[in-house]
Amino acid sequence: MCGIVGYIGKRKAADFLLDGLSKLEYRGYDSAGIAVVEKDGLRVEKCMGRLDALRKKLKGREPVGTVGIGHTRWATHGRPSDSNAHPHSDPTGQFVVVHNGIIENYLTLKEDMLAKGEKFSSDTDTEVAAHLFATYYHGDMEDAVHRVLRTIKGSYSLVFLCKAEPDKIICTKKDNPLVVGLGEGENYIASDIPAIINSTRKTYIMNDGEIAVVTADGVRLTDLEGKSISKKIYEVNWNAEAAEKGGFEHFMLKEIYEQPKAIRETMRGRVEDNRIVFKELDWDREFLARFNKIFIVACGTAYHAGIVGKCYIEQLAGIPVEVDIASEFRYRRPLIDENTLTVLISQSGETSDTLAALREAKRLGSHTVGVTNVVGSAVGREADQVIYTYAGPEIAVASTKAYTTQILVMLMFGIYLGNLNGRLDSVLSEDLVKGLLEVPELIHRQVEDVDQIKVFARKYGSSEDAFFLGRGLDYAVALEGALKLKEISYIHAEAYAAGELKHGTLALIVQGVPVIVLATQEDIYDKTISNIQEVKAREASVIAIGFEGDTELGKYADHVIYIPRTGKYLAPLLSVLPLQLLAYYAALTRGSDVDKPRNLAKSVTVE
Ligand code: G6P
Repeated sequence: MCGIVGYIGKRKAADFLLDGLSKLEYRGYDSAGIAVVEKDGLRVEKCMGRLDALRKKLKGREPVGTVGIGHTRWATHGRPSDSNAHPHSDPTGQFVVVHNGIIENYLTLKEDMLAKGEKFSSDTDTEVAAHLFATYYHGDMEDAVHRVLRTIKGSYSLVFLCKAEPDKIICTKKDNPLVVGLGEGENYIASDIPAIINSTRKTYIMNDGEIAVVTADGVRLTDLEGKSISKKIYEVNWNAEAAEKGGFEHFMLKEIYEQPKAIRETMRGRVEDNRIVFKELDWDREFLARFNKIFIVACGTAYHAGIVGKCYIEQLAGIPVEVDIASEFRYRRPLIDENTLTVLISQSGETSDTLAALREAKRLGSHTVGVTNVVGSAVGREADQVIYTYAGPEIAVASTKAYTTQILVMLMFGIYLGNLNGRLDSVLSEDLVKGLLEVPELIHRQVEDVDQIKVFARKYGSSEDAFFLGRGLDYAVALEGALKLKEISYIHAEAYAAGELKHGTLALIVQGVPVIVLATQEDIYDKTISNIQEVKAREASVIAIGFEGDTELGKYADHVIYIPRTGKYLAPLLSVLPLQLLAYYAALTRGSDVDKPRNLAKSVTVE
C-alpha cells in the first residue's frame, strides 16, 4: 500500500523524506512525491516511477526547507501518472495533503465542487481532501482538519501541511496505520516504522480518531473534538528488517494476517442497504441479458478463485460459467462471441497468458471484465471494465490475501448478477450481504489461535505426499490448499473432488498419508463423511475442517480444525485460512524460503 513520511526539525526535510520513503519501497508503489515548506511557499515535487526518478528530477535544485511530507503511491483511484502522484494540493497550492486509503464519498464531494467551478488536476480521491482543507481553513489549521474529517467517509491515514502555519504538520488515521516518531528538536511521521527507525525508536502508534499536531519541539495529541489526550510512548525493539515485515517473520504470514483488512477494503463502497453495488459496472437487466455464457480465465491461484466464482455465479445467478486456464484458453479457439462475458482474474494484472487471453476474448467480440489488484496494470487498462480488489500489494510469491479478495469479488459479483436478473432469492441475497460484513471479524478470530495448526504442521511436515478433498465449494478451496502446500513446502500435494478419489487415486492412500478434508457444505456433508471413511479404511491420517459446533466430524477424522460457523457460500472465505497457515508452518518446519519459493515468480510476464 502507499507509504507516508513526514519530517519537522532542523535538517533538510527532503533528504529525510526520500530516505524514509526508500525504507517503504518493499510495500510496492508506482509514483512518489514530496512537499516541502520553502521560503516562498509550499513546493510540491512528484513524478511517476521509482524514487530514483524523483531524485533525478530534484538533482541540483533540492528543496532546502526543514518541514515536509512525502508519499509513495500505490494507485487505487486513477492510474499511475505524474498528476495522480501525491502530495495533492488545492488550486492555490497553499494546502497540501498526502493520504493512504480510500475516501468513499469522494465522488459526491467532487461533483459538488465541480458544480461550484472548482478545478481538479488529478483523478484521485485524495485531491478532494486538499480542496476541503482549503475551503475549511479560516485561520486555524486544526479546526480545518476537524472539519475535513467530519466531511469525508472511508479509510485513511492523512497528513496535512499549510502555507499559513508552516511550523506544524497535522496527521490522523482511520483503518490505516500511522506512527509519530519522537526525536530531539525534531519529530517524524510515517505510515510504517521502517521509515523512521534510523532516527528514533520512540513512537506513538496512532489509533483511529486520534489527531497529532506535530511541531519541531513536540507532539500534541487530541481526539476528533480537539480534546487533549495522553498516550503511552511505544519503544520499538525490532531491527529495520523485521520492521518492514511489521514484526512478522515472513511477508506471507503478514499477508495472511492482513486478510480482514483486505476484505474490508474490497467491500468498501460496494455494500449499500444490504445490496451489492458495483458502480464501476453499472449494468442493468437488459445489458446482462445479452450474455448467455460466462468464461472465467486466469492462472494459478487466480484460476482457483475462478473455480469458486463459477459455483457462485451458476448457483446465485443461474448463468452457465466455464473456467479456463489462460494458457489453454488462448490457443484452444474458445467458442465465444458478443454474447459471452469473459472475466479475467489476475492479482498483478500483468500475467502474460491472462493478458493474451483477454486480447483473444476481445478479438472474438466478447465483453471483458478484469478483476485485478493493481490499478493501471495491463488487465486494468485493457479490459472493457474493471473490478479492483483492494488487498494492497502482495509481496510473498504464494498468494493469500489476493485470493481471498478475489473470491470475495466473485461472491459479490454472483450476488450482483443474481439481483440483476432476478434469479437470486431476495432473502438469501440479504443474508449473504449481512454475512459478508461479519467475515473480517471471523477471519480475525481464526488467526488469533494457530497453535493447533502449528502442531499438525510439525506432525505432518515430513510427509512426502498430501491429499486435499472436498465437494462443491469445498473442492474449489481444496485446490488452493494443495497449491499453497506444494508451492512453499514442496510436499507433493493434490486436490480431488472427494467423490472422484475412488476412481484411481485411492491406490495412493496408505497408512499415515495426510488427507485434509473440507466439510463445510451442508447439502453434501454426509457424502463427504463417507469419503472420510473411505480413506480412513486405508489408514490415512485425516485432518478435517468443519464448523464450530459440528459434533460428527470428530468421530471419523483423526483431527478437526474448527472454523467459525457461517453459511455455505461464505465458507470458502474462512476455510482457506487454516490451509494457508498449514502450508506456511509446514514450510517452516522444512526450512524452505517461504517468501521466495524455488523456481517460482510472483508475476509471470513470459509465456
Ligand atoms: C504466478 C504466481 C501465483 C499467481 C499466478 C497468477 O504463478 O506465483 O501466485 O497466482 O502467477 O498471477 P496473477 O498475478 O495473474 O494473479
